[in-house]
Amino acid sequence: MRKPVFAANWKMNHGPQDTRAFLTRFLAVYPPRDDRTVIVLPPAVSLAVAGFALRDRPDVQLGVQSIHWEDKGAFTGETSAPMARDCGATVALVGHSERRQLFGETDDMTARKCAAAVRAGLTPLLCVGERIEERDRGITLAVVLRQVKAGLSRLDKSHIASMAIAYEPVWAIGTGKTARPEDATIVHTAIRRHLREVITSRAEDVAILYGGSVTAENAAELLAAPEVNGLLVGSASLDADTWARIAST
Ligand code: PGA
Repeated sequence: MRKPVFAANWKMNHGPQDTRAFLTRFLAVYPPRDDRTVIVLPPAVSLAVAGFALRDRPDVQLGVQSIHWEDKGAFTGETSAPMARDCGATVALVGHSERRQLFGETDDMTARKCAAAVRAGLTPLLCVGERIEERDRGITLAVVLRQVKAGLSRLDKSHIASMAIAYEPVWAIGTGKTARPEDATIVHTAIRRHLREVITSRAEDVAILYGGSVTAENAAELLAAPEVNGLLVGSASLDADTWARIAST
C-alpha cells in the first residue's frame, strides 16, 4: 500500500441509504486514478450496499471499521473479518482510538484482530496514537511504539509489509487540533525505524497515514510532511464533494 492512501472513516454515520447516495455522488465527481489508494470505511450495516455500489470501481477499496478476532460464533453484535470480506471489504481498521478508549480494546485485542484480518484476506490498517496526558509526559513515542509492536506481534513479515499504519494522536481526533506536520514526521519516522528493524527494506512498502482533524484545507500540508504517506479522515470525509477534494490532494 505504498501509493498515497486516503481513507474515509465514517464512524457511526451513513446507514445504507446515505451510503448509497454518498457513493453515487462520490463516484460521479471522483474519476479513477491509479496514483493513489482510496478507501471508504462505512459502518458494518452499510458494507454490503457499499460493496455493491463499488463493484465497477476497483480503484476505491472498501474497509470495515472494526472486526472481532474470531471468525464466527457467539459474539452478539460483532462483525467478523470473513463477513466483511463477503461484503467486498479488503481492509480492516484495527485499534482506532475510539475502540481503545470507549470500548476497552487492548493491545492484545488489536494483535488478535490484525491476525484475524490477515486470515480473512483483509489488509489491516492499524491505528495508534497517544493521549494528551501521555504527550504532556513526553512518552508519545513509547506509547505509539508499544501499540505498533503489539499490533504486529501475531503477523508474519510478509503480512507486515503489506499492511498500513495510521498515526492518530488522540487529542487531535474530532477536536479541530491537528498535529504540526513536523510532529507527525517525528512519530512516523520512529514507526518506520521500528518497521526497518522488523522487516528490513520492506519497511518502505508500509504506508503510514496521519489522522486527526484532517480537512480539505490542511490535507496538502500534512501530506507533504516527510514520512506521511496518507491521511485517515473522519468528519471531513462525510460529505462526498469534500471527500473527493481531499482524495484528490
Ligand atoms: P477526525 O477523525 O478527522 O474527525 O478528527 C479521524 C479519525 O478518528 O480517524
